[in-house]
Amino acid sequence: MSFRTTADHVEDVSPGRGALPPRAWYACSDARSLSLNGSWRFRLTPTADAEDDSFAEPGHDTGDWAEVTVPGHWVLQGHGSPVYTNHLYPFPVDPPHVPTENPTGDHVRHFDLPEDWPADQEATIRFDGVESCAKVWLNGTLLGDFKGSRLPHEFAVGHLLKPRGNVLAVRVHQWSAGSYLEDQDQWWLPGIFRDVTLLHRPPGAVGDFFVHASYDHVTGEGTLRVDSEVAGRVTVPELGLDLATGESATIPVEPWTAETPRLYDGVLATEGERVPLRIGFRTVVLADGLIKVNGQAVLFKGVNRHEWHPERGRALDPATMREDVLLMKRHNLNAVRTSHYPPHPAFLDLCDELGLWVIDECDLETHGFTEQGWRDNPVDDDRWTPALLDRAARMVERDKNHPSVVLWSLGNEAGTGRGLTAMAEWIRGRDPERLVHYEGDIDCRDTDVYSRMYAFHEEVERIGRGLDGGTHKRRRLPFILCEYAHAMGNGPGGLADYQELFERYDRLQGGFVWEWIDHGIRHPELGFAYGGDFGEELHDGNFVCDGLLFPDRTPSPGLVEYKKVIEPVRFRGDGADGTVTLVNRYDFADLSELSLEWAYQVDGESVGSGTLPVPPLAPGASADVKLPEPPADGRSGEACWTVRAVLAEDTAWAERGHEVAWVQLPVTERVKPAAVAGAAPVPDGRTIRLGPGVFDARTGALLRIGGVEVDAPRLDVWRAPTDNDDGAEWQTDIRYGLLWRKFGLHRMRHRLDAVETGADALTVRTRVAPAAWEFGLHTEYRWTADGDRLRLTVSVTPDGNWTVPLPRLGIRFALPAADAVSWFGGGPGEAYPDTGSASRLGRWQATVDALQTPYVRPQENGARADVRWVELGGLRIEGEPEFWFSARRWTTEQLDSARHLSDLTPGDRVWVNLDHGQHGIGSQSCGPGPLPRYFLRAEPAEFSFVFSQSTAP
Ligand code: GAL
Repeated sequence: MSFRTTADHVEDVSPGRGALPPRAWYACSDARSLSLNGSWRFRLTPTADAEDDSFAEPGHDTGDWAEVTVPGHWVLQGHGSPVYTNHLYPFPVDPPHVPTENPTGDHVRHFDLPEDWPADQEATIRFDGVESCAKVWLNGTLLGDFKGSRLPHEFAVGHLLKPRGNVLAVRVHQWSAGSYLEDQDQWWLPGIFRDVTLLHRPPGAVGDFFVHASYDHVTGEGTLRVDSEVAGRVTVPELGLDLATGESATIPVEPWTAETPRLYDGVLATEGERVPLRIGFRTVVLADGLIKVNGQAVLFKGVNRHEWHPERGRALDPATMREDVLLMKRHNLNAVRTSHYPPHPAFLDLCDELGLWVIDECDLETHGFTEQGWRDNPVDDDRWTPALLDRAARMVERDKNHPSVVLWSLGNEAGTGRGLTAMAEWIRGRDPERLVHYEGDIDCRDTDVYSRMYAFHEEVERIGRGLDGGTHKRRRLPFILCEYAHAMGNGPGGLADYQELFERYDRLQGGFVWEWIDHGIRHPELGFAYGGDFGEELHDGNFVCDGLLFPDRTPSPGLVEYKKVIEPVRFRGDGADGTVTLVNRYDFADLSELSLEWAYQVDGESVGSGTLPVPPLAPGASADVKLPEPPADGRSGEACWTVRAVLAEDTAWAERGHEVAWVQLPVTERVKPAAVAGAAPVPDGRTIRLGPGVFDARTGALLRIGGVEVDAPRLDVWRAPTDNDDGAEWQTDIRYGLLWRKFGLHRMRHRLDAVETGADALTVRTRVAPAAWEFGLHTEYRWTADGDRLRLTVSVTPDGNWTVPLPRLGIRFALPAADAVSWFGGGPGEAYPDTGSASRLGRWQATVDALQTPYVRPQENGARADVRWVELGGLRIEGEPEFWFSARRWTTEQLDSARHLSDLTPGDRVWVNLDHGQHGIGSQSCGPGPLPRYFLRAEPAEFSFVFSQSTAP
C-alpha cells in the first residue's frame, strides 16, 4: 500500500466510492455487532492535504494526538469553533470548489474483536453520519470515501479484520462538494457525529428488505409482504403469520396511526440472521384531494425538528431523542418534519413506537444559490444528479420500514431543477406507497401536496377556499404549511388563528411550526451562545434560536401555547347554564384514554372538584355533558368552571393525570374594585399627602404608599423589542420594532404641564413625546384615596399623527425590594394578545426571577395577562379593567441592550409594569406580523389601578 496526499475526492461532485449499496437500517439482530463509539485519537489540520495519508497505517504512532468522543463534533470538543449561517455559504460560491482552509480531522480508532467474534467471516462497518466528507481505511487499506452527512454509509471489511489490533482511520473534511448540498440553516459542525458500528455479516445474513404492511379500512384487514434481498421467512406470532419473504397474507389487524401506534412484533429470518421487525399496518393515499391514512384525512399538528443538544450539537444520545418524542406527545403534537435531513434512525423507531406522523426529509439544501439567482444550482446540473439520487436512495432505503414515515421530502430550499425531478421519480418508483413533498416546487410538478412556508393567514384562507389559482395539478392537491409560526424569541403569535383556519377548511391539512428547539450552544460565560459568539466573519446571530424549546429543552411559552391551540378535545359551553359540549378532534382515536375533571373556582380558588363521565365519542363527534350543581360554599366572587381532560391511565408517553385539554367557563362576572374616594389632598411642605400616598408637591410624583417607597409610576410605552417586533431584514412589510426605535418610543420625554390639587383628587397633567417628532400622548394622572387605598386613573389622549402602533401602554414604577409575587389573573406563564390561549385564570405565585422567560437573546417577556390583582413588595394592586403585569430586576432599557442573559444583572430596584395594552407578537422574524386585530393602536384610553399596602407576609 502506498500512501499519497490526495484530496481530489473533496471537490468531486460524485457521492463517493467504495460504500455498499444502501439498505434497510435496523438497530439490532442476532448477528454480532461491535460499537466503535467512544474515544478516538484525533488530529486537526488546517487544510485538506496538510498531512499525507500515512496516519492510516497500522503502525502509525498517534500517541501524542488529542482525543475526541465519537459520536461528536470536534468543534464542540475544543478543536476549532462552530460557524452559524442561515443560508449564506460561509465560503466563496464556486461549485464544487471549497476553500483551501478546510479544517480536516484525522480520526483513529484501535480495536480488538471480542474473543468469541466469528473468525474469517464477512463484516461491515457502518457510519451513520459524518459531516461533511470522509475517507476511510481499515488496517491500512483504503475502503473508500463518501459524502452525505446525515446518511449512512457501510463498507465491507471482513477480509481486513484481525482478531486484535485493528486500526480504523477516518479523515474528515469540514468542507467538500457535499457542503454545497448541505446549506441548511444551522451550525456547520464537522465530525463523526453519529454511531460507528462493526456489523458481523454471517453467511446468509439479511440484506436489504422492505416491509409492506397496508391496511384496508373497509375490510379492517391488513396485508403484509416482506420483500427481501436474501430469501427467508417472516413470522408474526401475534397474528399467527409464518410467510416466505415475497409472499403476502391478508388478515384482520388493528391499524397503525400516530394516535393509535399499534405495532406487531415480527421476525425476518434468513439462513444466517434473525432481524426483529416492528410492523405497523397503514395505508397512505392521496384521495379526494386529501392526504388520507387508512381512509381518513389527517390534520398535521406538527413541528420541524432539527437534531440539537446544547453541548453535543447534532450528536444525539438515545435519551435525548426519547425526550423529544415524549415532549412532543405531551404537548399534543402529532407530526414532525425532520428538517432538513433524515434524523438518527433511532428517532424514527420512537415515532413508530409512540406515534407521530413523519415527513422524512432528504439531506439536501442549496439555499445559498438564491444570492445568484440560482445560477449554478446543483439541483439543475446533471453532473450532480448522481449525488442527489444517492442521497434520495440512502434516505428511502434506510427508513422505508417505518410506519411513521408517511411522506418523503426531497429536501429544503434547493430551488428547482431536473435533479429534484429525478429524485422524485426514483422515489416514486421505489416506494409508490408514500407521498412526495417538496416545498420549493410551487407548481407541484413533482409533488403530491401543495406545501408552503410562512404564508400569511389571509393567503392560507384563500388556499383553503380554493381561490389561490395555481396550476391545474396544484389546484387539486391538499395544502400544508411545512413551516409556519416562527418561534424565535417571544412568540410565535397567531397560532390559534392558523389552527382555526386548518380546522375550517378541509384542504388545509395543518402545518409544522418552525422549529422545535433553539440551537443555542452552552457557553461558560454567555449561558447559551449563538451566531457570532465564536467570531465568525459571516453569521446570522440568534436566528439559530427559534425553537419551541429553549436549548436545554425547557418548554418555552410558545410550546405551552401550541399545546393548548392543538388540543384534541375541544370544549364549548356556558358556565352559567351548566353544560359543557365536548368535541373529539382526534382523527382516529375515541376518548377512552381520557377522564374528565371539573373544578369550581371562586376568585381563583377552588371550592369544589370532581369527575365527569366521558361520553364515548367517535373522532369528529361531539356531545353535551352536564356539569354538577355549583358547590355552595357561601363565598361570593368571580366564579368559573375549569374542565380538564386528563389521561385516565398511564400511557407509553405520559402518566395518568397528564392534562391533555382544558377549558374555563365563566359563571359570574368579575367583582370590580370598590370605589376609592373620601380623602382630600393635604399639602405638607414639599409633599402632598393623599390617603396612604405621599407625593412630591412640585412634580406630583408619587413617593410612598404607606410604608412602601416607590419610584413614581409614569406612563410607559416601550418594550424591549422582540425578535418578532424587529422582523427579518428581508421582510417587505412594515417592521414596527425598527419604526418604534426610529420614532424614539424608547426615549420618550415626560413634560410636566400641571399639578393640581382639588377637593378630592390630585391631578398631574403631562405630555409624553419623543425628541424630534411632533406626535405625543397627553397623559393625565388622577389620584384619589380613602383611608388606606390610593387610586390612580391614567387618561391618555394621542396628539399629532401617530403612524405606528404602541409597543405597550401602561405605567412603570420601581420598588426598592420585591421577591415573592402572587396574583389573581392569567397564568401560570406569560401571555400577549396573540399568544394567550394557554393562560388560565387562577391564583398564582412566583418569584420575580421566576417571572422572567429566558429567551436566549433577551427581549420583552414575562407579562401575565388578565390580572385582577397582584401583590408584591408590600403592595397590593388591583386593576380596572384587568391588566398585564410584569416585574424584573432590571429596566426595560437594560433588557433591550442585553445580547445574552448573562448581560442582565439585578439592580437595587424591582421594576414593575402594569399595562393596559400590549401590541401583538406575530411571527415577523420570518413570517407575518401580528394580525391587525392584535395591534395596540394609539387611541384615547383610560385605566385605573388601586394601590394599598398588602397584608401578605
Ligand atoms: C426557512 C427555512 C428554515 C429556516 C427558517 C427560518 O426558510 O426552511 O430552514 O431557515 O426559514 O428560521
